[in-house]
Amino acid sequence: MKIPFARAPVSFDTVAPFLREAFENGWLTTGPLAERFIAGVGEFLGTRNIVSVSSCTAALQIALAAAKLKSGDEVILPAHTFIATFETVELAGLTPVLVDIDPATWNISLESAAAHLTERTRAVICVPFAGNPLPLPAWRTFADQHKLTLILDNAHALEAKFQNRFLHEYADYSCYSFYATKNLTTAEGGAIVCPADKLELVRTLSLHGMSRAAWKRYAGGSWRYDIVETGYKANLTDIHAAIGLAQLPLLQKHHARRIELTARYHRAFADLPLRRQNLPEGTLQHEHGAHLYCISLNDAARRDVIIEHLQSEGIGTSVHFIPIYEFSHTKNKYSFHTQDFPHTHGYFSGAVSLPLYPTLSDAEQDEIIRIVRDALV
Ligand SMILES: Cc1ncc(COP(=O)(O)O)c(C=O)c1O
Repeated sequence: MKIPFARAPVSFDTVAPFLREAFENGWLTTGPLAERFIAGVGEFLGTRNIVSVSSCTAALQIALAAAKLKSGDEVILPAHTFIATFETVELAGLTPVLVDIDPATWNISLESAAAHLTERTRAVICVPFAGNPLPLPAWRTFADQHKLTLILDNAHALEAKFQNRFLHEYADYSCYSFYATKNLTTAEGGAIVCPADKLELVRTLSLHGMSRAAWKRYAGGSWRYDIVETGYKANLTDIHAAIGLAQLPLLQKHHARRIELTARYHRAFADLPLRRQNLPEGTLQHEHGAHLYCISLNDAARRDVIIEHLQSEGIGTSVHFIPIYEFSHTKNKYSFHTQDFPHTHGYFSGAVSLPLYPTLSDAEQDEIIRIVRDALV
């Protein structure tokens, strides 16, 4: 049985009517489809303060620019994240400060963040790993107390909630990814939710710092535009939006299936010598974004055996994430030490991510479970 690690839950047939519309109106890039798509995402998230962009990476760049941080300001972020969270801080001329994760939730630890505060700390980026919500009221209080901008790298956490509220409700900026493997995909794409009074600035930053969106200009407005900021070229195209529009009506159903598959994995692995991700206190399983299903074994050798077994049976796996301090670039440029991140390292050493997507059948999942159990029991 061949089971890929990821499989986008969208078919050409469901996208075709939207693509046809994009070709028939003849515009292709950011236009009416992108506008409808992002309005739909905003409706799902309960906000109008949302701008579509070309990736979550672009959203992070724009959030850091909109927060008006200055060169040398320190930004706290977890060592356990994708490189985009780190690189965007570097590229903005800011100083990244890596902190450890909580050993139970595998999310950035508030205690560790507090221990790394200095008088130069200006922002913190939290990453709800795999879609696991963070105890955001406590993070909001922390950010307010220390006058920090609270940014969420919500690449995994579109549907996630903490105590029935979407995560963006607690943050200053929330960045989303619609990359090919994400819960909602446009192949490449992203979004940023921001405070109402920053909406125009965020829009402007997403397109060259231009005062008016280009497609509105071409649609009959004045030829004149102004550049009011140093901006990015980070707009989402109508072609990409067409792929997203086809999935929007299924978003809740897809998320429910991801939660169901997560519960099946949890039950099947309950008696095995491995660690599973815990929710933070006060949340329920359906509030998890259920983007990834990750386990962590007691040692790297066992992890490698499981990955080999699965691979030899045609089952795709991954490891999320190789910690930021593990790369040659970061090792050469910063003096990070593995021993400063014991919980990140403990998790990473045994980490395996298993297939999790709405089109994964029970029979396919049972096969994955069988192989993991056979290797461990
Ligand atoms: C935590 C996290 N942040 C940011 C990104 C970057 O997203 P994008 O590819 O949309 O720029 C990813 C991508 O997988 C991610 O996992």
